[in-house]
Amino acid sequence: MVHVDVARDGFRAGDHILVTGGGGGFGRAFAQRFSKMGARLSIWDIDEGNGLETVRLVQSAGGDATFFRVDLADAKDIDAAVTATLAHYGSPYCVVNNASIYPRASILDMEMETFETTLKVNITAPFHIVKSFGPGMIAQNRGVIINIASGRALEGAVNGASYACSKAAILSLTKTVALEWAKYNIRCNAIIPGVALTAQPLANSTPEALIERAKQRIPLGRIGYPEDVAGLAAYLVSADAAYMTGQGIAMNGGAVLVPQ
Ligand SMILES: NC(=O)c1ccc[n+]([C@@H]2O[C@H](COP(=O)([O-])OP(=O)(O)OC[C@H]3O[C@@H](n4cnc5c(N)ncnc54)[C@H](O)[C@@H]3O)[C@@H](O)[C@H]2O)c1
Repeated sequence: MVHVDVARDGFRAGDHILVTGGGGGFGRAFAQRFSKMGARLSIWDIDEGNGLETVRLVQSAGGDATFFRVDLADAKDIDAAVTATLAHYGSPYCVVNNASIYPRASILDMEMETFETTLKVNITAPFHIVKSFGPGMIAQNRGVIINIASGRALEGAVNGASYACSKAAILSLTKTVALEWAKYNIRCNAIIPGVALTAQPLANSTPEALIERAKQRIPLGRIGYPEDVAGLAAYLVSADAAYMTGQGIAMNGGAVLVPQ
């Protein structure tokens, strides 16, 4: 057998990681996990209070994070945040497209504007962000993009057409970025979370109901938590994942096609 040693690039302490929706449930867990690994963090969010709280938590644990307020539905806002982020920390090693919205309405009741805004935030913005940071990442000849999808991309979502469509689209974007940028040593993968205890599913349920439902229906017998997903993100930026690109990886307690 011939064994040729290959270089396996991965996250290095001091690398810059951008997390969109960094004030939210998953976003904060990503930030805290990456900070423990030694990342310098750009936290993007429309919610200034939650974004600044993530920064405070990271800094109080000795980390380095900066908040950038941005409305991902607004292309000009994204351009301004890209410029500010590059000026502050330079090109990122990793971008996590994590922010999303999940408006609930049936197909018949959903306003066209709601559908379009969901696509703007959940898929147009990730495309815009990847396109904007791409040249700098390509120049570094190393980098990782992590897109946060959802089981709804695969299963559909009753009262969630715009969300489900946007999440299917981000899986597709993941594959195209992986194909186009593999030659620049940039890997792109998606995480497909199941239900986790954050503000998003809590918008139309209670913690008790979500926990109980998960106990009944999730093979591993519990609901997910942001830390579960953060562990997978830590793996995806690491050199251990150097041979993985274009994948959508589910982290859902075994919930495969669980009926809604
Ligand atoms: N929690 C779950 O059960 C679950 C399941 C599957 C997928 N996901 C996905 O995980 C990701 C994180 O979700 P979460 O559960 O942490 O939800 P969350 O609501 O706690 O966080 C989402 C964050 O995105 C921010 N955001 C929303 N609109 C924005 C905009 N226009 N501009 C900038 N920021 C904006 C919010 O302010 C919030 O901080 C999302 O992509 C979500 O779809 C979550």
